[in-house]
Amino acid sequence: MNEHLFDLSGRVALVTGASSGLGAHFARVLAGNGARVVVAARRVERLRELTDGIAAAGGEARAVAMDVTDPDSVQAGFDAAEEAFGTVDLLVNNAGVAQPRSFLKSTETDWDYVMETNLKAVWRVGRAGAERMKKAGQPGSIVNIASLLGLGVQFGESMYATSKAGVVQLTRHMALELMRYQIRVNAICPGYFETEMNKDFFASEQGQDYVREQIPSKRLGDLSELSGPLLLLASDAGSFVNGVALPVDGGHLLKSL
Ligand SMILES: NC(=O)c1ccc[n+]([C@@H]2O[C@H](COP(=O)([O-])OP(=O)(O)OC[C@H]3O[C@@H](n4cnc5c(N)ncnc54)[C@H](OP(=O)(O)O)[C@@H]3O)[C@@H](O)[C@H]2O)c1
Repeated sequence: MNEHLFDLSGRVALVTGASSGLGAHFARVLAGNGARVVVAARRVERLRELTDGIAAAGGEARAVAMDVTDPDSVQAGFDAAEEAFGTVDLLVNNAGVAQPRSFLKSTETDWDYVMETNLKAVWRVGRAGAERMKKAGQPGSIVNIASLLGLGVQFGESMYATSKAGVVQLTRHMALELMRYQIRVNAICPGYFETEMNKDFFASEQGQDYVREQIPSKRLGDLSELSGPLLLLASDAGSFVNGVALPVDGGHLLKSL
């Protein structure tokens, strides 16, 4: 196999929601494979710790404040990214929130909170990134982080799952309309990985029962198991992969009825 297949040298990446969990991991992986990486989130102190770690490992990264629900903040974040490294040609739309709530108890505020961050911001940040790539005549790739819940259902997750199903469909449309600019767009649908979003649940008895009884592989994923799928979709190794929603769930979707 060509050892350079997943190489990202010369690429400029921007990862939203990089201040913890999957986003921080994605930033390390992209930097470790040669990309210069802009890490974006609201908690800038945390981003600085991440960029220090990436620099210590021999990579290049820059922290940028970005609230993905604020159009001005998104544009300012891209401006800062361009100033640091040039046009972003690898965008990972990862920022997301969860608001578990039964359908009947969910409120207008809950709905807006989840949709603003998980769906509208993917549209907003994706559009800003793609517009800038197009303007610069720069081919690129966009990876949207959806969820297994974009493909399936679960009690208490109507808002989150609907937002992620929207991300899956938005991914297909972005791929269709952006391919003429040599911009590929794909989604990853992770199964369960322990992060700040869910660690209390998985530490609880209920959470442990869930892993034992509801996940066929009887385990959570390890963040390292997202690295290969990310690199495939982000790099030229995936040059003919476009518009897919790739489950990375250890077979969770195969749960028997
Ligand atoms: N963990 C899982 O099992 C799992 C499974 C499927 C999908 N996912 C998806 O993976 C993504 C990352 O989740 P995670 O598990 O890593 O959760 P996490 O540890 O809670 O991280 C969420 C990240 O999103 C950022 N964020 C939230 N609102 C934001 C906003 N308005 N502007 C900018 N950044 C914002 C947070 O940064 P700041 O608070 O610093 O802004 C944080 O860095 C999410 O889209 C999630 O839905 C996770």
